[in-house]
Order: sequence, then structure tokens, then C-alpha cells
Amino acid sequence: MNAGPAPEWAPAIPVVQAPMAGGASTPELAAAVSEAGGLGFLAAGYRTAGRMRADIERTRELTSRPFGVNLFMPSSDAVDDAAVAAYRARLGAEGGRLGVEPGTPQARDDGWDAKAADLLADPPAFVSVTFGCPGAGLVRAFRRAGAVVIVTVTTADEAREAAGAGADALCVQGMEAGAHRGSFTNTGEGALPLRALLAAVREVVGGLPLIAAGGLGTAAQVADVLALGAVAAQCGTAFLRCPESGASAVHKEALADPRFTETAMTRAFSGRPARGLVNRFLVEHSPHAPAAYPDVHYVTSPLRKAAAAQGDPDAVNLWAGEAFRSAADAPAAEIVAALAAGTA
Ligand SMILES: Cc1cc2nc3c(=O)[nH]c(=O)nc-3n(C[C@H](O)[C@H](O)[C@H](O)COP(=O)(O)O)c2cc1C
Repeated sequence: MNAGPAPEWAPAIPVVQAPMAGGASTPELAAAVSEAGGLGFLAAGYRTAGRMRADIERTRELTSRPFGVNLFMPSSDAVDDAAVAAYRARLGAEGGRLGVEPGTPQARDDGWDAKAADLLADPPAFVSVTFGCPGAGLVRAFRRAGAVVIVTVTTADEAREAAGAGADALCVQGMEAGAHRGSFTNTGEGALPLRALLAAVREVVGGLPLIAAGGLGTAAQVADVLALGAVAAQCGTAFLRCPESGASAVHKEALADPRFTETAMTRAFSGRPARGLVNRFLVEHSPHAPAAYPDVHYVTSPLRKAAAAQGDPDAVNLWAGEAFRSAADAPAAEIVAALAAGTA
């Protein structure tokens, strides 16, 4: 496929550890991956600017190699407050069982302005953005501040917009991916499997570097997307069970539990399509969850926290990509080496 030469910023080993909001991508995980020759990422989503900065400083203590931080672009989708209230009422019984009240919706901007300002002052080597694309002025400003800017895209139209805004690279996320689909809107439309999406995106962005994401859990799968012209594979689920990962014990165990056999897309936990292991909460509530992000995220937050603390995998968001069976409980450096085996 029509890929250009590998950019000078490409990691020595073509494996990017996905940013994973909610606690999985710790400074320890990002640093271990970067130390192993891949590219580690921190997730700033759901964190304050102060927590994000503390994570960056901690990662800098652990490695002098390049790493990245990922931001959630604020949503401009309209939200039906009555539908959120009805869903919250529906979840009352879950709360009763777990001994907590469902939460209430909070600000929708994820502290974007404060985090962007903080990163413009002192960015790590890479800044990636999900759920939308910053304007060309901000992309230019991040680049001038010294960061390589990556935008996650899930359709050819999103790729065209991100390329037009001046992104250095695109993270092309196929529908096999674990957790949220990083689409610019919350319509749920237009999702494509990774290989078809890579081809469609390549068509509209020419030689712009592409990082492939979604369901990549083995060296063969990584080699396959590199052969399709990607400069690297971005893997999330593959790192969830690492000792360096901050995923909850319940989440780590579920990924290896034979009781969980498949994944599905759901809005039940956050109001945005996201892929997770099929558990009771997902089955019972998916048909009723409104397209309301991050409102539903805040409504379910106390339930998810209580369920995780009580060791109940059936009321937690067990984010997982389609290749979850390949995720191993092994140090991150070993996972990087295993994913890249044969690609050097
Ligand atoms: C637990 C979890 C949390 C995630 N959080 C984020 C995030 O904060 N930002 C982001 O850009 N992508 C996030 N992703 C998606 C990844 O960037 C990537 O697209 C996905 O992990 C690739 O699919 P895989 O999980 O099958 O490897 C997350 C993925 C997982 C599994």
C-alpha cells in the first residue's frame, strides 16, 4: 500500500501501547513499554490537568525515552437529559444491590482547556487526541511546542479532517478495538473492520503515517498491519493483564476467565459505543442506554467502582478488544517483544 518511509519519530519497535483511561495505562506501564523500544502512552481522559501532569512527571522519572499522552476531545453531541434521567432511574436497582446511588452527570469538557494549556507549556514527545480533531491552529501549536500530534480516526471522512488539520499521523481504529470507539461523533455509524478502514483511510490521506489499532494481539496480526503499510500497531487489550497495568483485579481476571467468551459494543456504561466482554450488565442494559456521553459515564461511575471493589465482574465495564484471548499476564517488555517478534 502507498505508505511513505517510516517517520523519524517512529519507535524502534513498531508497537504503541494504547493510552487507556480509567487507570490501566500507568506511568509504570508507559515507561516499561518505551524502555523496551515501543512507544508508551499515558491517558489523560477523566483525569484533572494536575493528575495528568503528575503522571507525566512520574513517567519522566522512570524513562528518558519518548512517550505520549492522550486527550479526550470534548463532545458537541446533543444529549437528551430526560433519557439520561430515565436510564439513571432504571439503574436504581443495580445501585440498591451494590449499596450505592447511581451518579449524576458532570461537566462534558473533560477539563480540555486546562489540559491543553498544560501540554502546550511542556508536552511529552507525543500528544494524541480521541473523540474529535483539534483545529489546525491548536495542532500547529502542539507541534510548535515540540510534540508529534496523532489523531484517532474511525472513518475516511474523519481521516480527511485530521489530515487537513495538520496531524503528523493518524491512529486508525478498527471496530475490533477494545473500549471506546474514538469517532468524532456519537452516532455509532460508519464503523469498519481495521483492514478495510486502513485501505479507505490510505486512499484519502496519501502517505501520511498510519498507526493501526483494533484487535491486534499476536505478532502475526501486528506483522499483517505493517505489511498493509502501517508504521506501527497500537495495542491496548494486550497490555491489560501486565503487572504494570493499573486495570482492576476484576478486569484482569475476567480477561482470562473462560466464563467470558465474547465481546460486544455497548453504550450501557458510558453512553458511547465501546467494546467490552459480554457480562450481565452489558446484556441487561445495552438496549436501554441512551447516546449520551459522558453523562452515562458519570451515572454508572459509582456502580462500576462499587462492583470492582466487591469483585463483581458482572456490573463492571470489562473493556476488551476482539483479540482478548491473546492477552497474557506477563511484564510489558515481554509483551512488546512478543507482539513485535519477526517484524524487525
Ligand atoms: C481499557 C482500555 C481503555 C482505553 N482508553 C483509551 C483512551 O483513553 N484513549 C484512547 O485514545 N484510546 C483508548 N483505548 C483504545 C485504544 O487506544 C485502542 O484503540 C484499542 O485498545 C485497540 O484495540 P485492542 O484493545 O484490541 O488492542 C482504550 C482501550 C482499552 C482496552
